[in-house]
Amino acid sequence: MSARDRAFAQRPLKLNLGSGPHGPQSWVNLDRSPTMLLSRVPRAARALRRIGLINDHHLVAWEPHIVRQDLTARLPVEDGAVDAIYSSHFLEHIYISEADQILRECHRVLRPGGVLRLALPDGEAWARELVEAGNDPSGEAGRRYHARLGAHPDDRPTGKRALTFKIGGHIHRWQPTRGLVRAMLVEAGFSADAVTDHGYHEGALPDLAEIETREESFFIEARR
Ligand SMILES: C[S@@+](CC[C@H](N)C(=O)[O-])C[C@H]1O[C@@H](n2cnc3c(N)ncnc32)[C@H](O)[C@@H]1O
Repeated sequence: MSARDRAFAQRPLKLNLGSGPHGPQSWVNLDRSPTMLLSRVPRAARALRRIGLINDHHLVAWEPHIVRQDLTARLPVEDGAVDAIYSSHFLEHIYISEADQILRECHRVLRPGGVLRLALPDGEAWARELVEAGNDPSGEAGRRYHARLGAHPDDRPTGKRALTFKIGGHIHRWQPTRGLVRAMLVEAGFSADAVTDHGYHEGALPDLAEIETREESFFIEARR
């Protein structure tokens, strides 16, 4: 059995979607960043760095137990086989229609009583701050808002930078809000009264303290 198949065969089965380079070993941490592949061929990565095709951010070391999985594809698990799903600051990096599809997959694979927990960037807090800045004569509040939305870099990536950006770029393809994410969860099949708002490290997901690290988020859970 491959390491990947062994990971998915674990019971209880807890999935961490879009984990990034680190994740607790008791979870199946899934990501498909090209920088994961680079970290598994360090000499080739250093050569690409020397010729400027990648930059220092791409040389991040991925923990070996992170499992490569394109999460826009069907999850390789049976209906109802998963006990818990966590996902932090991932869904906004794919198209919103793909996020809808992933939430439907989460609904399919969670067992009855299983919990999905999402941590997402708090765009509503940024919007409030922007509105509170009033007419913003220096434009500073507007620039901060633009930077936080993370939608596009300030200047057009061209030449080598275009490739560098493609490999490790982290743009936000949509902006989650509590209302929108709640509605998406209901459309994905979760019942409206099983969708709840939470604070940092507070909620029903098992082993929350070992997996949640980004306090600057809003948190929503959906129980199957
Ligand atoms: C901003 S990082 C979040 C990392 C970590 N969860 C955190 O909260 O810091 C977003 C992650 O989503 C991953 N990602 C983006 N699209 C993906 C896809 N289609 N399949 C799997 N992972 C993807 C990226 O590679 C990246 O590691």
